[in-house]
Amino acid sequence: MRNKIVAGNWKMNKDLSATADLIADLKRAMPETEAEVMIAPPFTNLYNAFESLSQSPIEVVAQNMHQAESGAYTGEVSAPMLKSVGINTVILGHSERRAYFGEDDKLLSAKVDTALKNDMRVIFCFGEELEDRKKEKEFEVVAGQLKNALFHLKKEDWSSIVLAYEPVWAIGTGETASPEQAQEMHAFIRKTIADAYDQELADSISILYGGSVKPNNAAEIFSQPDVDGGLIGGASLNADDFMAIVKAI
Ligand code: PGA
Repeated sequence: MRNKIVAGNWKMNKDLSATADLIADLKRAMPETEAEVMIAPPFTNLYNAFESLSQSPIEVVAQNMHQAESGAYTGEVSAPMLKSVGINTVILGHSERRAYFGEDDKLLSAKVDTALKNDMRVIFCFGEELEDRKKEKEFEVVAGQLKNALFHLKKEDWSSIVLAYEPVWAIGTGETASPEQAQEMHAFIRKTIADAYDQELADSISILYGGSVKPNNAAEIFSQPDVDGGLIGGASLNADDFMAIVKAI
């Protein structure tokens, strides 16, 4: 059976002391849950976060990494470096990486390969832009993103892949996909995987929804049969809000 997951993407927020404060609050507020709970602080705070959560079920994950394992790539961080500070999961393909840093499907496919080669788990983000939806091209765009970045993988590789569908128009905007829109797309994603591989694999993949998930809408979104959890941005910066979302799973 696929896992339920709630992951907090802190983006470029929280310095060292603010990270320590938020982690202390998260530890206090962490409920009993069947879900895997993850946080993704910025690179500078990964090691401290990992150390302070070593006795906690909360997993610390990275927001990005470079596709090379080492070399002359000023300012970048590699998979082996992440592993060396205890990080075993990385978010790849976030729409902000695609929009502001020019990351495309080909580059993301290389990053996925490097992560898997280094025994890391990947939370792979994708989703259509508002223009795509207006033109009724959202299914085509999403199928293309999956095919281009992931469908070269072998069936066994998929045990290290978590998907995060994030319609770009819903990220940080306060506008959420309706539970029906989320379910429709998640079912389409599962069918696309079943067609490319098989139903058993499609049924085993956790597909998270991301985009303005808040304590007041999480339960309805998570109740959809093909939604296995959430990737949470803004609401993950407050321990009570984040844990209210965890409780909604
Ligand atoms: P949001 O961000 O919850 O602030 O919309 C989601 C994300 O970017 O992963």
